[in-house]
Amino acid sequence: MTKNIAVIRGDGIGPEIVEQAIKVLDKVAEVYGHRFCYTDVDMGGCAIDKWGDPLPEEMLKKCVESDSVLLGAVGGDKWNDVPGHMRPEKGLLRLRAGMGVYSNNRPAKIWPQLAEASPLKKSIVDAGIDFIIVRELIGGIYFGEHKTEEIDGTPTAIDILSYDEKEIERIGRIGFETARKRNKKLCSVEKSNVLDSSRLWKKVMHRLAEEYPDVELSDMLVDNCSMQIVKNPAQFDVVVTENMFGDILSDEASMITGSIGMIPSSSLGATSCGLYEPIHGSAPDIAGKDIANPIGTILSAAMMLRYSFDMPKEADAIEAAVSAYLDEGYRTADIMSEGMRQVGCKQCGELIISRIC
Ligand code: IPM
Ligand code: MG
Repeated sequence: MTKNIAVIRGDGIGPEIVEQAIKVLDKVAEVYGHRFCYTDVDMGGCAIDKWGDPLPEEMLKKCVESDSVLLGAVGGDKWNDVPGHMRPEKGLLRLRAGMGVYSNNRPAKIWPQLAEASPLKKSIVDAGIDFIIVRELIGGIYFGEHKTEEIDGTPTAIDILSYDEKEIERIGRIGFETARKRNKKLCSVEKSNVLDSSRLWKKVMHRLAEEYPDVELSDMLVDNCSMQIVKNPAQFDVVVTENMFGDILSDEASMITGSIGMIPSSSLGATSCGLYEPIHGSAPDIAGKDIANPIGTILSAAMMLRYSFDMPKEADAIEAAVSAYLDEGYRTADIMSEGMRQVGCKQCGELIISRIC
């Protein structure tokens, strides 16, 4: 099969981690007889520097016309003082909206080899950590109006949070469908004791539940959920939540699995053209030092093969290679522990590639 992949290397550690993921994809292509063609796309801080815009229209077009997009990370201190609509992150938000990828899937699964890297007590980790956060990605407060103005002489900042029923329903369905393919437990997370948008969210989830009688639906307030994630993560199967809550909870969920550097994500909308990115940021402090962990990006490439290209065997091969690499005791600095062998970003990529068969 031939597939066209738009590649956004981005800022900070983005270029070095994407490089490893591309090498992995090339190895998969060679072993399984596919052809992956790559188109470079500028987005984020590097696009601001080059084009004066974090996501020029023609770059978005390249992404929309591709079979899927692989992204490293964007952002960095260098662009902290640019106006909000020009920030690197704005490019990412515009990309997600422009591609219509409303459903972001973030797995929180502990690799048995990394159980010790979790900051949680052994007894909690041993109960199992294996859940998915389904995050609404192109609505809510990140996409509402943002403005700062003087009201009665006081500088005042305003960010609007709004959801309509259709936006909630389409992500709700993904939550139920995802749970249906797993352990059939869906936890809907909101703040319905305070927010109108959350009250509508809860109402829509319960209406949908009638169509999915095989899935057990529960509700949880977001503050309680953040506590339950560290207290008893084994209770979760699939969590569905709105954009900002999902952003925050998915960082928390990743940390309990050992390292944010290990977690991939997929973002999909109405078509098979998806956006695949690790959930961590651009880590400018370690950029260019060859110490970043490329596994989140490599596993994102695996998700692309599984969810957009219908290549489950190939995705399995990448995941098995990562598992073999960990079994053999190799670790990047973020997950290093006593008795293991520390490797850099490039070597990590090479070791994983040589284990793909
Ligand atoms: C993420 C990131 C982004 C988000 C930022 C960089 C805009 O934190 O993917 O979780 O908030 O969605
Ligand atoms: Mg985030």
